[in-house]
Amino acid sequence: MTAQPQSAETKNVRALVVANWKMNKVTKEAIDFVEKLNAAWDRLRGVDVVVAPAFPLIGSVARRLKDPFGLAAQNVHSSASGAFTGEVSAKMLVDVGCEFVLVGHSERRVAQGTTHAYGIGESDDEVGRKLKSAQSAGLVPILCVGEQLVERDRGETEARLNAQLAAALDGVSIASSRELVIAYEPVWAIGTGKNATPEQAEKAHHYIRARLADRFGAAIAAHLRILYGGSVKPDNVVEIGRCPDVNGALVGGASLDVEAFVAIGEGIARARERKG
Ligand code: 13P
Repeated sequence: MTAQPQSAETKNVRALVVANWKMNKVTKEAIDFVEKLNAAWDRLRGVDVVVAPAFPLIGSVARRLKDPFGLAAQNVHSSASGAFTGEVSAKMLVDVGCEFVLVGHSERRVAQGTTHAYGIGESDDEVGRKLKSAQSAGLVPILCVGEQLVERDRGETEARLNAQLAAALDGVSIASSRELVIAYEPVWAIGTGKNATPEQAEKAHHYIRARLADRFGAAIAAHLRILYGGSVKPDNVVEIGRCPDVNGALVGGASLDVEAFVAIGEGIARARERKG
């Protein structure tokens, strides 16, 4: 029997917004952002906030970012250490102050049935190895999943999400809902200005939560945070954030501007108030 997540509890999960800066900003710009974000802490009481800078900026951000804001890396290697020139281990990320790490972002995954302009070639299995490497060092993985447009058009969205979740979470166990975050990022919505509709987002999030319930049990799945990512902006975040199974946002382009990112955090908090 398929375990059903408990939607009444899902509504009360504290939301999370993550700024994925991707390959943007230099030290001065990162510091300026963090100082302004710190000054806006009072506006962000209703939401957990995490910043994911590129590797060279992590130290500068870590030294300035105020509690309770959190720090994430954008990538991690699947091995604990060794001869992997240019790579960064989970232990190194913990050492410089990261609590979270993105794994399986579509800009790093292998193209699935179509050419992907930025494809670095990470397979579903490699994403799974990275997730376990992160977990074993004590990092919270933010696992990104999402379908390509061609897969959506063929009616294969759920099959794709299921395959990505199954490969990444195979053999993974968690004792609490705070040990893992999932981000649903439909590839066709990333950087395109074309966000998923609330109906599309809710359907995918609900499906993901049901698969998480199968794997981790209904009680944990009800509290796992599933973020939406893909052209999130201050003017569409409330609508998306109101969906019962959306627990926050993973923000790319709009997270480069501190005022827009703070407005997104406020929007998520406001959306949650309306949910209750
Ligand atoms: P945009 O918000 O620029 O569409 O990027 C989404 C994303 O990829 C976040 O990880």
